[in-house]
Amino acid sequence: MNVAVLASGSGTNLQALIDSAGRGEIGPARLAVVGVNVPDCRALARARAANLTTFVVDHRQYPVREEFDRALVAALDPHEIHLVVLAGFMRLLGPAFLDRYGGRVINIHPALLPAFPGVHAQRQAASYGVKLSGCTVHFVEAGVDSGPVIAQAAVPVRDDDDDAALAARILVEEHRLLPSVVRALAEGRVTADGRRVRVTGSWPSGESLRSM
Ligand code: GRF
Repeated sequence: MNVAVLASGSGTNLQALIDSAGRGEIGPARLAVVGVNVPDCRALARARAANLTTFVVDHRQYPVREEFDRALVAALDPHEIHLVVLAGFMRLLGPAFLDRYGGRVINIHPALLPAFPGVHAQRQAASYGVKLSGCTVHFVEAGVDSGPVIAQAAVPVRDDDDDAALAARILVEEHRLLPSVVRALAEGRVTADGRRVRVTGSWPSGESLRSM
């Protein structure tokens, strides 16, 4: 399974995928290409350091979103991609992209959806005062963070947490969850029935994905 990773920022989730691939933990998934929309982002440096194929589609050169989407499709198409992983990719994808790749795009979001969609999810959770937050891997549809949930992992929110402390605790779980979901997809262990997504099998550690 050829996987494309799209990122915009620090790329720690990309790094988790790279490291998992290096340990043979993403099954038959292959990191075929990494695309970024921010030319100097750390994610691009991580991809290059891992000798992955990369491309840059700088959104600032595409004032019309549809043209940005088309440029992304054109950059991805030669790689015969089966799965697109949004790993901290900070642009919304519209119909021009989803008409081509819809159903095989996943995103990781740093909250337990449907709570706290959109930006600054960790800040939203801390300010709201919830006692649990976490991360969600979901299929991408036209809405913001609204596609069917594949897997979630929860963390406690502590009384003295600031945004950064909560974000760091959630990131630890993101780095476990995302490679596990990529593996499950590559191994054909994910089935969707409308919004209900079923994942069979287990984590490398033996815990059940469904229990997360
Ligand atoms: C993560 O918290 C992810 O859930 C969100 O953006 C952040 C990206 O972090 N979508 P990184 O670039 O993977 O370090």
